[in-house]
Parts: sequence; C-alpha cells; structure tokens
Amino acid sequence: MAIAARIKESMEKSSWVRKMFEAGAEMKMRFGAENVFDFSIGNPNVPPPADFQKALESMTALNVPNKHGYMPNAGYPDVRAKVASFISDEQGVTLGAESVIMTCGAGGGLNVALKTILNPGDKVLVNTPYFVEYGFYVDNHGGVLEPVPCGENFDLDLEALASRIDEKTAAVIINSPNNPSGKIYDKATIKSLGELLERESKRIGRTIYLLSDEPYRKIVFDGVDVPGIFEYYRNSMIVTSYSKDLSLPGERIGWLAVNPQADDFADIIAGAVLCNRILGYVNAPGIMQRVVGELQGRSVDIDLYEKKRDLLSEGLKDIGYDFLLPKGTFYLFPKAPGGDDLKVVEILRDEKILGVPGRGFGMPGYFRLSFCVDDSVIINSLPAFRRAMDRF
Ligand SMILES: Cc1ncc(COP(=O)(O)O)c(C=O)c1O
Repeated sequence: MAIAARIKESMEKSSWVRKMFEAGAEMKMRFGAENVFDFSIGNPNVPPPADFQKALESMTALNVPNKHGYMPNAGYPDVRAKVASFISDEQGVTLGAESVIMTCGAGGGLNVALKTILNPGDKVLVNTPYFVEYGFYVDNHGGVLEPVPCGENFDLDLEALASRIDEKTAAVIINSPNNPSGKIYDKATIKSLGELLERESKRIGRTIYLLSDEPYRKIVFDGVDVPGIFEYYRNSMIVTSYSKDLSLPGERIGWLAVNPQADDFADIIAGAVLCNRILGYVNAPGIMQRVVGELQGRSVDIDLYEKKRDLLSEGLKDIGYDFLLPKGTFYLFPKAPGGDDLKVVEILRDEKILGVPGRGFGMPGYFRLSFCVDDSVIINSLPAFRRAMDRF
C-alpha cells in the first residue's frame, strides 16, 4: 500500500463538511452556482473590515531590516505584546507577551497545544457536538479523543464529563460559541467546570488542562456575553484565530495563550514554542502577524451575520424545522425531521441544498447549516427547504 494505513483510515472517516463542500462544487458545475444552496462549509462570506486593507498595505510597505526573515518561533514580540494586552482586557487577567504564541490559525494552535501536553494514550474529553477535526488533531499527537454526550440544549454535561475522567485524562476541550450548535456556555457553567477540573486533577494526581477553542468569540448575537476562562481555571489555554471574526481563513493566522497562573507555565510555553517550530510551521505568517497586531478588538460587521441568522431561522421556523436559536457563530443546528440525519441530508441534496449531517459532529439526529452565505441564497433556498419538509 502506498500510504500509511492510519491515514487511509482517516481519509475514510474524513470530515463530512469537506465531503459536502466537494459535492457542492460538483453540483454547482452541473446545475449552475445560482441553483445550488450551499450551506456546507464555514467559509466567511462577509468582507474583512476596511481597516484590514489599510493595515495590509502599510505592513507590506514597511521598511524594516530582514522584513521577510525568520523570527522568534513564538512570533514578533511587539505583536505578542499587543495581543496579550487585548486578552488581558477581555479575560480580566493580566498577561504579558510571554503568554502568547502566534500560530497558523486555530487549527495550528490546537496542534501545538496538544503536542505540548499529550503523552501516548492520553485522553482528551470533549462534549458533543464538536468540531470533527479535534479527533484528528488529538490523534496526531498520540492521544485519543473521547466525546461525551452534551446536556440539555447543548450545554456542558459536567456530571457526564466528570464520570469519564481517569488517570489517562490530559485535557478537556471546550468550544464556545460552539460549532455547530451556536451554544455559548454561561459564567456559572465555566465556573463549575473550573471547580470540577481542579477537584478531579487532585483526585487523579495530574493536571487536567482546559483548552478553550474560541474562533467564534466575537461572532455573538443579542448582546450575549462570552465569559472568559482564565479567571475560573488556572491550568488553561485559549486558542483562537482571525479566520472567522476578520474573515481571513486563508491567511492562517491566530494565537495560543497560556494562563500565566498555570502550574507549569514556563515549561508549557517553552514546549509550545518548540512544537510550533517542529510541527513545521516554524512561525505564523509574518506580514499577517503585523497586520492583526494593528487590528486588535476589530471584527467584521457582526450585524450582517445576525441578519442572516434571523432570515434563515425565521424562514425555517415557519416551515416547521425545530432548532435552538444560535447565540453565536454562523451555524444553525436543527433536529433532523424524522430523526435520521443522513436521510435528511440526502433529501436536502435532492433539493440542491447542502447541509452536513450531525454525525459529522458526533451528534446524529441533527444537521448543520452554515449561514455565512449571501442573503439571496437563504431567501431563494426557503421554497426548497419547504419541499424537503413535505418529503420527510
Ligand atoms: C471550532 C473550530 N475550531 C477551529 C477551527 C479551525 O480554524 P482555523 O481555520 O483558524 O484553523 C474551526 C474552523 O472551522 C472551527 O470551527
């Protein structure tokens, strides 16, 4: 066999999102893009803020020695300091530049964090539904992802989580606002999670890290607040990117921040800097680091996503689809009418609508729709959603 058996197996269980995205590309060629309603992938369609172009131009024109050269593996110190100052305000915990490592997107940051903390056979827990790439990322570094069913309304089920913790447990991943459910965990839940991890770490005699994956933190609706985590649990790290909130997924830029109060702070940072290098990233893209350094706290126009959420959710509710209104992200996660998510996605596909089955997020019985699409796609898709509903 030409390729590794493990990779062959991974390709077979590879992401439903990618499968549907590829099916969509093929359908668009066959039927014309305007006749296909592609809600498969979370590829932001809202433009970056105007300041992005300005910052990009000025950073491209910047005249500094060794402008395109290697840099410290953690990134430019001045950019790290700007990011640290922003995180300090957001989290209410003071961080210095040394807490921040610039990464190749959130995906890069997660791989760096996991490589830094996992020993072979270690377990990483995540509540369903979850971003499916976590399983591959954990496996990349010899760990095993263990999904734990969520509680009511996609909330964290802390009891279920606690019941899965044993001596092999190295980390818990949370993702709020959540892809695919749009759920935001409230302060009380984060506080209880922190207490649980503190207690369980003592019980099993090893540190359980909390890894908070937050690429949607700024994409929130109805004035809802996303609580910080650093205040509530010291052995914690945040990973994020500018892929979604600045619409820059192709530029591969984000960061990993380690809680300055973490027990093994210096070791974790030193390990993560090494991992950023030896995973082959070496460092995050240089010009993009400088650009995002200028854009701390900025985001795309979130009102545009809120309007899309309202358009889609009101349209689907009228037809009879059942879902929890997402408070963040650009995803809607309805129940599959009749319960079979594969069948629902199949019927939707017949109507030229592309969605992703919930089993692609560890949660069969639901399906995900990405509403980072033109308003016209949402409006024009509604008759097709109605026809599909009549067939379920
Ligand atoms: C929950 C979640 N985490 C991480 C990522 C990866 O983001 P990035 O493109 O910044 O690597 C995504 C991308 O869709 C995501 O939805």
